[in-house]
Amino acid sequence: SPLIIVAIDGGAASGKSSTSRLLADRFNLLHVDTGSFYRHITAELLRRGVPHADRPALLAALPGLKFSTRLEGRSARMLVDGQAAGDEIRDQRVNDHVSHYAAVPEVRQVLLGYQRGQTEVARQHGFRGLVMEGRDIGSVIFPDADFRFFLHADPAERAKRRAAEGRQDSVAERDRLDSSRKTSPLVVPAGAIDVDSTFLTLEQVVDKLAALIAPKL
Ligand code: C5P
Repeated sequence: SPLIIVAIDGGAASGKSSTSRLLADRFNLLHVDTGSFYRHITAELLRRGVPHADRPALLAALPGLKFSTRLEGRSARMLVDGQAAGDEIRDQRVNDHVSHYAAVPEVRQVLLGYQRGQTEVARQHGFRGLVMEGRDIGSVIFPDADFRFFLHADPAERAKRRAAEGRQDSVAERDRLDSSRKTSPLVVPAGAIDVDSTFLTLEQVVDKLAALIAPKL
């Protein structure tokens, strides 16, 4: 039977990751966190001293990055040159830089094929499909996804969630940059189901999405 593709987009700290993970568990889907891919590339380029604004250096560095995938439970981990990302991809330094690297069209281009190729990973490992979260999944990566969801949450609530995690994150600034870039900006994809999670618990959000997905399986 064909793979089920669930696309979940939304702003920073909108609850995408927890929701996607739980949906993956419930329906035996491969979980793909594309934000972690952009974070990994950002950490790697910072480590190599390649600034996002140095276009020639950036374009020279990109072809040298070799991507592969390792499974961790139901989650796809991107390896760059065989290396998994470390905890530093959640640090403030990466938070502050990732949206700048993600706005560079060639950075998005190298990840496009890799992201679409996750369907093969899902197939090889016997998953029923995949749930992919990001900013442009329903609009650009899988516009024909079986389900396209967009998660909203009030900015104050999102800032609270990050603070509760003890993390320094420029949530509003990242959303501003991600929404205003020219190449595949953060948008509500055409025909996406909008879910406002501000006053919902995680379980309520997951139940809402699961109720829509279940009849198709
Ligand atoms: O999802 P997360 O907040 O970890 O994403 C980190 C950053 O990666 C986003 O702020 C955005 O700049 C970039 N991103 C993107 N497109 C995606 C996923 C993430 O541009 N599909």
